[in-house]
Amino acid sequence: MNEETWNAVDSYVEAVLVPQDAALLEATRRSAAAGLPSIAVTPAMGRLLHLLARMQGATRILEIGTLGGYSSIWLARALPKGGRLVTLEADATHAGIAQANLRESGLEDYVDLRIGQALETLPVLEREAAGPFDLVFIDADKPSSPEYFEWALKLSRPGTAIVVDNVVRGGRLAQPGTGDAGVDAMRDMTELIGREPRVTATIVQTVGAKGYDGFLLALVS
Ligand code: SAH
Ligand code: DHB
Ligand code: MG
Repeated sequence: MNEETWNAVDSYVEAVLVPQDAALLEATRRSAAAGLPSIAVTPAMGRLLHLLARMQGATRILEIGTLGGYSSIWLARALPKGGRLVTLEADATHAGIAQANLRESGLEDYVDLRIGQALETLPVLEREAAGPFDLVFIDADKPSSPEYFEWALKLSRPGTAIVVDNVVRGGRLAQPGTGDAGVDAMRDMTELIGREPRVTATIVQTVGAKGYDGFLLALVS
């Protein structure tokens, strides 16, 4: 099984189950034209986030790492009227593209985009009592993931679902001492979750258009 096969299956899934409409395609086009890195979730993963939000009956969603707002569109489209996605982005250029993409998608009223280092904006959300969130999607700088997970827990309630992207890192998750700060952080986070009695979690390995990676899914009790 090789990358060509993974790509073919992702294309098949997209064609049959996850058609992208003009707003999603335009968001990807605008992000690429602005020189943003092409590291947004795949359509299949975007649909999974959307489904999880609906299964949660989510009215409040927190996303850490907006980029051009591609995953934000999938998440915000799961919200009912009056629902809110709070999304945190450190890079002002990324945030500007995301704002444009969200506006063009008609989702402006559903999304509260906060520009700044997430470790600085998360305490602000706590002070504002912006939580508890029904779903948290962690997808920003990988070395901070353990801290983001702690913040997600702090802003949660029993029943909150937490998703962390890019935890498997081409399989390096299983290797101690790689010296890669992102991998080491995902191991630290996984092990802290393993010791956390309030959380039931698993990691699902994925292959597809973005190679070999995986996500963590946790439920707060
Ligand atoms: N969730 C997006 C992809 C996010 S890529 C999607 O799937 O469409 C990761 C993003 O996290 C980048 O835009 C990067 O600028 C942002 N980021 C990196 N460090 C950050 C920090 N400390 N605080 C907030 N955002 C950060
Ligand atoms: C990177 C970040 C991501 O969120 C992702 O899905 C893939 C790659 C990165 O920083 O390289
Ligand atoms: Mg990611």
